[in-house]
Order: sequence, then C-alpha cells, then structure tokens
Amino acid sequence: MEELAYVEGEFVPLKEARVSVTDRGFVFADGVYEVIAVYHGRAFRLDEHLARLAASANAIHLLLPVDHGQLENIIKTGLGQSGFQEAQVYLQATRGAAPRSHAFPSEVKSNLVVTFRPLHPVSDEIRKKGVAVITTEEIRWNRCDIKSIALLPNVLAKQKAIEEDAFEAIWVTTEGIVYEGAASNLFMVRDGEVCTPPKSGKILSGITREVVLQCARDLALPVSETPLRIEEVLKADEVFLTSTTMEVLGVVKMDGRAVGEGMVGPITLQLNEALRKEIGR
Ligand SMILES: Cc1ncc(COP(=O)(O)O)c(C=O)c1O
Repeated sequence: MEELAYVEGEFVPLKEARVSVTDRGFVFADGVYEVIAVYHGRAFRLDEHLARLAASANAIHLLLPVDHGQLENIIKTGLGQSGFQEAQVYLQATRGAAPRSHAFPSEVKSNLVVTFRPLHPVSDEIRKKGVAVITTEEIRWNRCDIKSIALLPNVLAKQKAIEEDAFEAIWVTTEGIVYEGAASNLFMVRDGEVCTPPKSGKILSGITREVVLQCARDLALPVSETPLRIEEVLKADEVFLTSTTMEVLGVVKMDGRAVGEGMVGPITLQLNEALRKEIGR
C-alpha cells in the first residue's frame, strides 16, 4: 500500500508530487477542496462530495479541469493503485500557475490535485469518552458555505483549541450566535430535539450534517435547523460534532464546563450508530 497523488494528470508517489510555486493556491489560497472518507474500498457519499466541489468551484468562478465522471475514475483508479481500503481522499482545485496578480489570469489552466492516504479515524477511546471544545470569536467571512482552501482562521482556532487541551474550537459571534466548529458542524440536543444551525453563508453545509439530520428524521427524533445561542448550547443535554473524519463525536466539556451529564449522551450514541449503519450499507 502506498500514499499516492494525482497531479498534472498522473499518479505518482505522494512524496514525489510537486506543483509550481506560482500556483495560485499557494500564492493566494485561490482554490477549493473536498475531503472524502473511503470505507471498505468505497467512497462514502461520493456524489454529494463531488457536487459540493462543483458548487464551491462555481462560486469562485473556477472551471474544474475534469467532469464528475472523470473525477470518479481518478478516485477509483487512485484507490486501486494505492491499495487502501480505508482511505482519506483529498481533492484540491486551484486557479493554477500564473504570474502573481490578484485578478484572474487571462489564460486560466486550473490545477487539480488528488491525494490518497490512509484514513485516521478518531480512536474508540476518544469517541467513548467524548471531547472538550473551546469557543472562539467568529472572525471568518460570509461565504463559509464555499469549501475554500483559505483556512487561516480555522488553522488558528484549531491551534488555540489544542493549546488549551481541547479537540475543537467552536465559532461564536460577539452577539452570542454559535455557528460550527473550525472543521466540523455543531449539534445540540435539548429535551429530545436535535438542533443545529441552519444552512447559510456562515456554515459549511456538511455532508455528514445532512446524513445525520436524515438519520435523526428516520429515527423519528424531532429536528430543528434554527440559529443557536451560546447560552442554549451551554445548557444543552447533549452536544456533538459531525464531519467526514469525526463522524458523530460527543462533546463533554465546553470552555471547561461539563456539557449535560459530562458524558457522551444517548442521542449522540444513537446517531453515531445510525451513521455507522449508513456507512456500512
Ligand atoms: C468548517 C467546516 N464545517 C463543517 C465541516 C464538516 O463537513 P463534512 O461533514 O462534509 O466533512 C467541515 C469539514 O471539514 C469544515 O471544515
């Protein structure tokens, strides 16, 4: 098994993969990306991820160099060549190499890179115990629905969380509105109702978020997608995060205070199990 990259139309060992230092992804973070989990050799919710990549590219007026079918083939071939059954596929499309000037180059040749690496799921121990999170002031832009590679606020927030012995940082505005995590969507459970902030330019519409909302509906749990305030989240019975790599991950501490009973809650466990079933289908 080998870590691989698809770059300039070819598969090469990841260590040997190179892009130009003039690539606008490197110079301006002018690009978009996706992270896809592969279980038992199959990419989970591939169509949804490719559709979101196309929507992100469209939102920044970037023409992807390949279409949906070609991307599927690249992923299938890369997975086959890498030999990984459990993998993390990272796709990044940038506005390509060009002299440094903010406006789009007159001749754009967008650059697609895909990497194939082993999946590193959250350990069973962490999943069982749940994680601590911190809140941090929302400093991002109003197009968080675009999966942009410009992630400096997220990088700084996650680093702050790690330095404070927490797993994730949660964006909260100065008005007390809670949006999501640095790399995850946020849910809370209140009196049996599963609540998460609505889709908007302030959150990335997570693929896992959608699957978990559907799982909740299938389990006949009441669901609400309405703005959340930090006071409500701090008083919630349960809080959990969702993402492709975290799946459904219970939050047991927020800014040093216990969430609910201070343990991963029953609805979190139920939804994690439902998501695992979807993955296993
Ligand atoms: C800011 C942000 N929100 C939410 C998510 C979750 O999205 P998904 O479930 O599609 O992985 C991510 C994933 O990286 C993210 O970076």
